Amino acid sequence: MALRLGDIAPDFEAETTDGKIKFHEWLGDSWGVLFSHPKDFTPVCTTELGYTAKLKPEFEKRGVKVIGLSVDPVSDHNEWAKDIEETQGQKLNFPLIGDSDKTIANLYDMIHPNSLDSLTVRSVFIIGPDKKIKLMITYPASTGRNFDEIIRVIDSLQLTAGYSVSTPVNWKDGEDVIIAPAINDDDAKVKFPKGFKTLKPYLRLTPQPNK
Ligand code: BEZ
Repeated sequence: MALRLGDIAPDFEAETTDGKIKFHEWLGDSWGVLFSHPKDFTPVCTTELGYTAKLKPEFEKRGVKVIGLSVDPVSDHNEWAKDIEETQGQKLNFPLIGDSDKTIANLYDMIHPNSLDSLTVRSVFIIGPDKKIKLMITYPASTGRNFDEIIRVIDSLQLTAGYSVSTPVNWKDGEDVIIAPAINDDDAKVKFPKGFKTLKPYLRLTPQPNK
């Protein structure tokens, strides 16, 4: 059955550039980003992996572990890592899964044969510390992803996990957020002491509560 938001991210064992891992054990109590790329030694993927490695301090600040995957073997990943460092000016600093037999790609439905025959498309899964899938996005092979957007979503997910708020269109860390409609005004005054602005009874804005 297809994976959906809120499902437990399937556990697996895998060979990676950092050795053998058991996924859930490797995640521990961290948040996780599991993403697939179509193929090693390809241009868009080279830029994506270099940029994601540059973002490592941002992921670490948020308690997030990142892991990539393609259906190429780990030996290819290790060779390709040299090209990533040479062309992107950044050493690969997170593990890449070698999934030659496509077990994990199939488990996570990362192969979309009507888009890209037998290779993984550009899937992203954000996984919470409870091992549940919090976000899934899928891009075609021809379009490199925006990993700054992944960071932005993680900021929203981590904020909304801790407070009764949601984040509006194009929200960025530090901007006002929306109070959950289920919270009445009296409770909102207690929960959000910085105050709130009521545009409509269902649309109340408050400064980001964890800032
Ligand atoms: C790329 O990363 O450039 C790419 C990979 C597979 C198919 C098309 C493009």
